[in-house]
This record gives sequence, structure tokens and C-alpha cells, in this order.
Amino acid sequence: MTYLVVGGGGREHAIIRKLRESAGVDKIYCTPGNGGISKDAEVFHVAATDIDGVVALAKKLAVDCVFVAPDDPLVEGMVDALEAEGIRAFGPNKRAAIIEGSKVFSKDLMKRYGIPSAAYEVFNDPKEALDYIAGRNSYPSVIKADGLALGKGVVIAENFDEAKAAIHSIMEDKIFGNSGNNIVIEEFLTGPEVSVLAFTDGKCVKPMVSSMDHKRVFNGNLGPNTGGMGTISPNPFYTDEVAKECMEKIFIPTINAMNTDGRTFKGCLYFGLMITPDGPKVIEYNSRFGDPEAQVVLPRLKTDFSEIIQAIIDERLSDIDIEWDDGACACVIMASGGYPGKYDKGIPIEGLDKNGQVEGATVYHAGTRCSEFAGGGFLTNGGRVLGVTAKGETLDEALDKAYAAVDKIKFKGAHFRTDIGRAYKK
Ligand code: AMP
Ligand code: GLY
Repeated sequence: MTYLVVGGGGREHAIIRKLRESAGVDKIYCTPGNGGISKDAEVFHVAATDIDGVVALAKKLAVDCVFVAPDDPLVEGMVDALEAEGIRAFGPNKRAAIIEGSKVFSKDLMKRYGIPSAAYEVFNDPKEALDYIAGRNSYPSVIKADGLALGKGVVIAENFDEAKAAIHSIMEDKIFGNSGNNIVIEEFLTGPEVSVLAFTDGKCVKPMVSSMDHKRVFNGNLGPNTGGMGTISPNPFYTDEVAKECMEKIFIPTINAMNTDGRTFKGCLYFGLMITPDGPKVIEYNSRFGDPEAQVVLPRLKTDFSEIIQAIIDERLSDIDIEWDDGACACVIMASGGYPGKYDKGIPIEGLDKNGQVEGATVYHAGTRCSEFAGGGFLTNGGRVLGVTAKGETLDEALDKAYAAVDKIKFKGAHFRTDIGRAYKK
């Protein structure tokens, strides 16, 4: 089989690396890819959000399957456009991807079907939103833009002034464009967070091994939110008992709710959960693999990945037994200095071999490009640059290996957390 993977970050690199292990896969293309991905797949320059461009490329390459990995093209209907041309595609269609594309939709879905989540109100008028916050006078207050916002659409306001500033920038300054036409204000929940990615074909749901993201930029979970500074799998808070409760109260009800609404979800559904004192609750849904969750979950997959993908497209996932490594996996993100704010690009990365790897770990490239100058090498080209990942029999072993590899890689301004997997103690 031949695949075209759409996207160009660490998640896509992890997807491609896993697809390469599949017996039936003989060629992988990727667009737009990145420097590291170009060592594992043939890359093209069509943007991941260019639906017409990706359809044209898939036709030109006559690929057997297109794997749409990022949120924006899924929410905008790339899978529908591919299928309309008779091209097999992995990922939810537009009607189903709305579960990530609109928080108003997902909150309403959970309310209608009794899926545990934070209590909330929706507002389309900034003044009404502010009056509500003032009247409630309870902080922290959680304010969320309705639509996609590059992972930055959630503000946890500690007081009225912060809430006011957030509502102003989302609803009036429109920093996220139309994504801020509506906002959700919800109850502040507490407890450890767990990411569970699940394969589903709409008929059955098969959760993958759990993981934990580290969203804040600095050690000790301080500083602004990022796309994710590192991940571990499994998540120590996701016990068998919690898993059972999630299956009964969240995973199966969500799949059923989407079916009942005529929005059958096929692909990878990401459950962002919080284990609260009242039990697990949904913080958010994503319509795709998490980034950098994919980087620690997929390395633990033992079953042929391509076979799972094809079974989901054909709605015969229940036929497949999915097996996982028993050990652990850890990913440490090396980011550009200044991220998630402004940062420079084009900085040479030292310590990688010609394939962009280091011994003792797998380096998933997130924001790199190949240097065009003699000697080659890799340059930084994004906020999150590398996801340095290692497996071990235990979490400590995986973390030690990942950090030993991080020590071998250098670029000016490089920033990474030194407490991945160690910030939370169970
Ligand atoms: P999201 O982009 O929806 O994943 O939200 C980003 C982060 O904000 C989450 O990972 C949580 O840490 C936090 N968060 C979101 N909603 C809530 C909530 N209702 N209560 C407490 N924290 C929240
Ligand atoms: N790591 C969080 C996400 O992919 O949304």
C-alpha cells in the first residue's frame, strides 16, 4: 500500500515511523513534512490546510490511502473532499470532526447524553458574559473560545480583571477570528489530567494505552500553555478502575451519541480527561492523535498500524486484536528559545546524525528543515523543534534514556523541561 500523510510535526513523524513498520506498506509520502520526516518519507510542499491541493496531490501520486493527521483540515472537511473523489482517507469527516471544531457543540453533546464534564454556559455577547462572571464571582473561571485556536483558546482567569481581558481579546479583538464569536464559561475542575486516544470505526471503540501531556512551558507546571512540552505513557493516574469507569461513562456513550446525532466518528478520537474527586470528566475532545501524545503511544503499538487504519475505514475494527508493549515511553520536547511566544528560526542543530537521530532514542522532528548548505544538517524551523523519545521497561528507565539523548543535542536557545514525568507524583 502507499500512504500520503498530511501534516508536518512530531505527531506526523511518529505516524510515519510506525507505518514504516507495517508489512503491507511500501511507500509513504508526506505533505508538507519537515526536515526529519524527509528522511523517512518523500515530502511535498502542499500545505496541510490546502484541501484542493491535497486532493490533487493524492490523485497525482495515486496513493491507496490519505492519513489526515491535524485538526484544521479535518474540521474543514478534507476527508469529505477526498472521499468525494473516491480516495480512501483515515480521519473523521467534517460532521464528526465538529466534536473538536466547536466547544459549544461538544459541551451540548455531553449535556444531552449525560457524559460527565464541567458545568457551563455559552455566550455570544461579551457584556452578558462579563455580567455572568461578575455575578458568579468565583475564581478561577475557565473561559474557552468556541472554535479552533491553535491550542491557545482556553484561559483560566484568576480574577475579574483577567476574565475581562480574556473576553475582550477573544470576543472583541477576535484574536482567534470567528473561533471567538461564541465562548464557553465553565466550572473549574481539579485533579490529574489523562489523555486517552482511542481507535473507533463508529461501531466499537478501542482505547490505546494512556498518556500524560505537560502543557505548561516551565518546570513545575508553571508559565503559559504550549502545544505540549513532553509526554509519558502510561499515565500513572489511569488505573484499571478508572479505565473501566471511562469506558462505561465516557467512551461508549460518546461513540453512541455521535451515531445517534448522525455524526458517526471514524478515526482516532482523543479524550482529554480530568480525574476529579467526583470521578473522571471530559475536559475536551480532539478529533485526531494528540501531539506529543502520539509520540509516546504509537511506539508502544505492537499490532500492524496500517491494518488497524484499514479496518477502521472498512468498519471492521472489532475483528482486530490490538496489542501494546507492557513497558513505558517518554518524550521530551526541545523547543526554540522564546516559545510559546516569539522565537527565531534557522538555527543549526548539533548532535544529530545524517538521518536526524541520536543513539539510544528516537528523535521525532517537529519543527526542523534540512540545511541547503554543504554538509547538510538540520535547522530549527518552528516552536517545538524535536521530540526526543525513548522506551524502557519502567517509566524511570524511559525518562533516563530520553534525557541522556537530549543532553547530546544542542542548538542556540534550546529550551526543554527537566521534570517531564516527574512533575506529578502519584
Ligand atoms: P484544552 O485546550 O481544552 O485542553 O484546555 C487546556 C488546559 O486548560 C487543559 O489541559 C486543562 O489543564 C485546563 N482546563 C480546561 N478546562 C478546564 C476546567 N474546566 N477546569 C480546570 N482546568 C481546565
Ligand atoms: N497535546 C495536546 C493536543 O494534541 O491537543
